[in-house]
Amino acid sequence: MTALHTPTHALLKLEGLRSCALIEFQAGRIPTWRHYGVKLQDTPLMQTWSDAAILRLPNASMDRLDGVAVLPCFGNGLSHEPALLAHHDGQGAVQELVAQTYLLTVDGDTQTLVLHLADNTQQAEVALQATVTLTLHWDTDLLSIQTTLHNTGQSTLQVDRLASGVVPIAAHLQEVGTLTGQWANEFQWQRSPVGNTGWQMQNRHGRSSHERSPACFLLDPLTGEHSGEVIAAHLAWSGNHYFSVDPHDSGALLLQAGEWYAPGEVRLAPGAKLETAPLYVTWSNTGTNGVSRNLHQFARRHVLKWQGGAMAPRPVHLNTWEAVYFDHDDVVLRELATRAAALGIERFVLDDGWFPGRSNDRSGLGDWWPDSRKYPNGLTPLIDHVVGLGMGFGLWVEPEMVNPDSELFRKHPDWALQSPGRSLHTGRYQLLLDIARPEVSDYLFDKLHTLLSENTISYLKWDMNRDLAQAEDARGHMVYRAQVHALYALLQRLRQAHPKVEIESCASGGGRMDLGILHHASRFWTSDNNDALSRVMIQSGAMRLFPLEVLGAHVGPAPAHCTGRTQSMDFRCAVALFGHMGVEADVRKLDDTNTAKLARWIALHKAWRSVLHQGVFQQGHTANGVWWMVQEQQRCLLGVFTVKPPAGVQHAPVRLPELVGDGPWRVQLLGRAGHERARGEAPSLWLDALQGEGVVCSGAELRAIGLPVSNMNPESALVFSLNSLT
Ligand code: DGJ
Repeated sequence: MTALHTPTHALLKLEGLRSCALIEFQAGRIPTWRHYGVKLQDTPLMQTWSDAAILRLPNASMDRLDGVAVLPCFGNGLSHEPALLAHHDGQGAVQELVAQTYLLTVDGDTQTLVLHLADNTQQAEVALQATVTLTLHWDTDLLSIQTTLHNTGQSTLQVDRLASGVVPIAAHLQEVGTLTGQWANEFQWQRSPVGNTGWQMQNRHGRSSHERSPACFLLDPLTGEHSGEVIAAHLAWSGNHYFSVDPHDSGALLLQAGEWYAPGEVRLAPGAKLETAPLYVTWSNTGTNGVSRNLHQFARRHVLKWQGGAMAPRPVHLNTWEAVYFDHDDVVLRELATRAAALGIERFVLDDGWFPGRSNDRSGLGDWWPDSRKYPNGLTPLIDHVVGLGMGFGLWVEPEMVNPDSELFRKHPDWALQSPGRSLHTGRYQLLLDIARPEVSDYLFDKLHTLLSENTISYLKWDMNRDLAQAEDARGHMVYRAQVHALYALLQRLRQAHPKVEIESCASGGGRMDLGILHHASRFWTSDNNDALSRVMIQSGAMRLFPLEVLGAHVGPAPAHCTGRTQSMDFRCAVALFGHMGVEADVRKLDDTNTAKLARWIALHKAWRSVLHQGVFQQGHTANGVWWMVQEQQRCLLGVFTVKPPAGVQHAPVRLPELVGDGPWRVQLLGRAGHERARGEAPSLWLDALQGEGVVCSGAELRAIGLPVSNMNPESALVFSLNSLT
């Protein structure tokens, strides 16, 4: 580690492989951003000219104009969004955090800049300090920003906002992309102009939410999947959040993000510190796939903590929910497991319904021991059967919750979060436990620890089926962030006690998917919607943020339970292939044809999962659908999905502009779903060749001209392998 010394005035630089961050530091002045984006070698303009010298005072303005501050405060003539809003019981709400010292260090391939700031007030009673830590990971071009606030004043500081980080956005990145939606329709990609009045997103669902994924992309209007400039920002936090993009007086845009605090939620006693969640920011000029690649690699290298230190092949799941719901019957479950094993499934996950009182969703949560009516001899006989078939056993839990109709609630009604003097607000008939109370998290730890110690359970599906609303503790304090921290602590404690157990983060599907919880989990349940047509767009959106190995993708029943639509087994399988594959259907009821098809697709997934789960992902769109491709050096798996009727007489060739490798590639059709829009009697030498020994194309042809494919009906898919012949 190299520590550099600290002059009083410097242009500080953090360098990634392709990006860099430049910050102007002057002791006693507000530290300002000079650049974030493309890597710059020489910077004579910025070395010679400060913002103060360049920016001209506009008419009708205040007599001072600053660049984008690293931590812009409220007041002092500034009108744009502050990154800090805090006061001492109504006093001292105006702050100006100026630079004190900095430390620039290099550790392997990361560079870290720590900026120490202090409020330049003359009044000791409201004194305030802050530290902003910026770490640029060279290989992934991932900039992590975290802020710590220190109340050095003499009375309690009420903090209403503290951004995790602030980033300058060049004015031409004037569109914002978000991943939005709702339950069973998560991660819908949406673009809109930032506009003159700026853009804001606030999430108050208390979890990362189905509606407002904690991320945004700032894009040049010309930016697409494969080219153009883009900055992505993701908050590693599983609770409330805010994002804002504000036109700044300097002409840039000011992006900031952080936790959203409820009234009175954050109060810092004198001497206390407040540390934010990390904000991850990354830049690329190779389109949205470029920033997705950076996020995926960063998650793989720095966020995911695999059991045993490295990812083992992701086992194919059978999840019992849509097969049996609450109707747990030993004979049925054993048969389901036997059929699953015969299909090549490797992990059997027993979903909701196994504990007392759980014959519907109105009772039982909190009582984490097996229902003696459904499981008179406990879970062991079923687990033994599953393990005997060579599969791992996983169990569904929803530890943060309690049903008023449960033994736990009857014994400890005060353990549930509730607003003193107000009626209880249930969601899915359930309440939240105050898990920040040690006795509550101890209870949960003990119950889960017992289950995991007494049974061969290697996996927990950790659910959370209601918003964290009415988040007041018994003293009437808002505890949104305390709940998230307590959740992370409980997960960490469990993982330490049971290092081999994997955890899946589920919240009615994709309601809690972020890089904060991924530090403690190894899979997301992407959506409750297993309709493969819906899934194409849900997974496309989720893959913008997360690598495929953490995205649970299940072959659901037909008709699909969330939409009532029916898709072919092949189409359902082709979509589930591109994720951490699983099955969520009563496989006992499949006919022989569909059983054989499902087994074949599972085998295909296993043959390609090392590529899917370690390779480089890219996606693109066609006139009537999308394509997904994963490349691991000499091998690629490509899926082309048709979701709408054909847009022309012929399907345009599928161009693969980001394929790496020039030499010849052998392309083969490995799987197909749905029907071609072509005359059946007309022979196709091309198709015959693709289905046989394959066709040979050069990398340049595939990038520039593309792979010719047939027009297909909606709900069709073609899955190709590309093998390099060099
Ligand atoms: C919601 C989850 O998303 C489903 O997969 C299932 O586990 C149910 N909860 C069980 O209640």
